[in-house]
Amino acid sequence: MIAILSDIHANMEALSVVLERCEKLGVTDYLCLGDVIGYGPEPLAVGRIAQERFSVSLMGNHEEALVTGKHRFNPHAAQAINWTRQQLQGDAALWAWFQARKPFAVKKHLLMVHGSIYDPVHDYVDEPENPIESQQMIDTLNKDFSGFDLCFAGHNHTPFMATTMGTMTPHDGHRQFRIPKGHKAYICVGSVGQPRDRDVRSSFATLDGELLTFHRLPYAIETTQAKIRKAGLNEFLAERLGEGI
Ligand SMILES: [Fe+2]
Repeated sequence: MIAILSDIHANMEALSVVLERCEKLGVTDYLCLGDVIGYGPEPLAVGRIAQERFSVSLMGNHEEALVTGKHRFNPHAAQAINWTRQQLQGDAALWAWFQARKPFAVKKHLLMVHGSIYDPVHDYVDEPENPIESQQMIDTLNKDFSGFDLCFAGHNHTPFMATTMGTMTPHDGHRQFRIPKGHKAYICVGSVGQPRDRDVRSSFATLDGELLTFHRLPYAIETTQAKIRKAGLNEFLAERLGEGI
């Protein structure tokens, strides 16, 4: 069984409950779609776990901003990435690891990106909002998914799955989907450390053969919020965790 995690954003409380659940489930391989850091208060500790445990850990837009200094962030995100850079200064090996991140990875029939197949670092896979957008997504899957079947994506912090038959959004009553071999799908796994679908619980996915499971787990949000405030990061970054936005 593999676990696909994304957008941890230096949230140790969220990552801890996710890893604990994965160990109980028997996960043998951890794939991370990027944004290990940024926004959150524990970049050093979370970065070291990513470095040690994840067989894939992609270059997200926050890793790119971290190592290049170039971004189009809002002021809160910009302040957080500058603060993050200061926190990582003492660990040269971890810094070098962040610099070496790649924008995408391929494993057999799986493609992994942070953003989308068109721009793996920055582009967003948006959940279709109407039948026209839904058809456009189906066209993308039919025309542009060549050489791989499933594309796992992060960046939008929202879990859903787009297939050639339509889009499916997981909920507490239905979190497991069987994807037949050879079927094409975009699978957005949501965010471990900063969910934005108005569900404050940590989000990630596991894949066991053809069986895809979307998971949601509560974690100690108040602890993370207190650490954000203590670090001097913007209050909005604490508040949004309590609202799932
Ligand atoms: Fe992110």
